[in-house]
Amino acid sequence: MSIVLFGGEKGGTGKTTLATNMAAMLALQGKDVLLLDTDRQGTASFWATVREDSEIEPRIASVQKFGKGLASQVRDLAERYDEIIIDAGGRDSMELRYSLGVSDRVYIPVQPFQFDIWTIRQMDELVEMAQGLNENLQAFIVLNRVSTNPAVREDLETREFFEKEEFQHLSLLDSVLRDRIAFRKSGRDGLSVVEWKQDKKAADEMNQLYKEVYGGY
Ligand SMILES: Nc1ncnc2c1ncn2[C@@H]1O[C@H](COP(=O)(O)OP(=O)(O)OP(=O)(O)O)[C@@H](O)[C@H]1O
Ligand SMILES: [Mg+2]
Repeated sequence: MSIVLFGGEKGGTGKTTLATNMAAMLALQGKDVLLLDTDRQGTASFWATVREDSEIEPRIASVQKFGKGLASQVRDLAERYDEIIIDAGGRDSMELRYSLGVSDRVYIPVQPFQFDIWTIRQMDELVEMAQGLNENLQAFIVLNRVSTNPAVREDLETREFFEKEEFQHLSLLDSVLRDRIAFRKSGRDGLSVVEWKQDKKAADEMNQLYKEVYGGY
């Protein structure tokens, strides 16, 4: 059982895309998964509603929770599900902080073209603070929307940069997701990109990520 958070202080980096894909992939493995939407924009819940309305199997339970009671509610929910995935909104919210307090792992999507030292430092500090309350917490950066053009070596450049900076509390995952329309289109249909079946490269990338997020635990 694990509580996995997709979070970060920047908007539009891919948190909901990763959270919904991981939820569907766990469900495909027969896990009883809860997708917990703590973002008032409700994007993850909307995805789950589209999935529900289209009667896509496997069904995925989804709830929205906000505010102060969040941490204790997550602990209660953790007793009832095999896996919990939390999707947090793209800012330093109360929900992000409470979620960091109860999660086993947090994955922070970052787009190489907007990789800036300031934001990563902020997250490093936020994770440090959260680890003071939740010593189990592990934090990872995931490169998302990397250019599909091999001449653009932005993932390698970002990796070099990341290593040089030596962040104390963050590690960078090996798997990357590239900028592919498949991630957008599958999401609109309430599907994961592996269920969408129209882009093998996109599905392979998401499978790699899934292995890194859930394989070793
Ligand atoms: N690898 C990708 N390739 C192409 N499009 C992507 C990729 N990842 C995410 N997107 C698209 O970028 C947009 C933002 O992604 P998403 O909603 O997952 O970000 P978010 O971090 O949850 O945003 P917010 O901070 O608003 O909650 C969406 O339209 C999504 O489909
Ligand atoms: Mg989102």
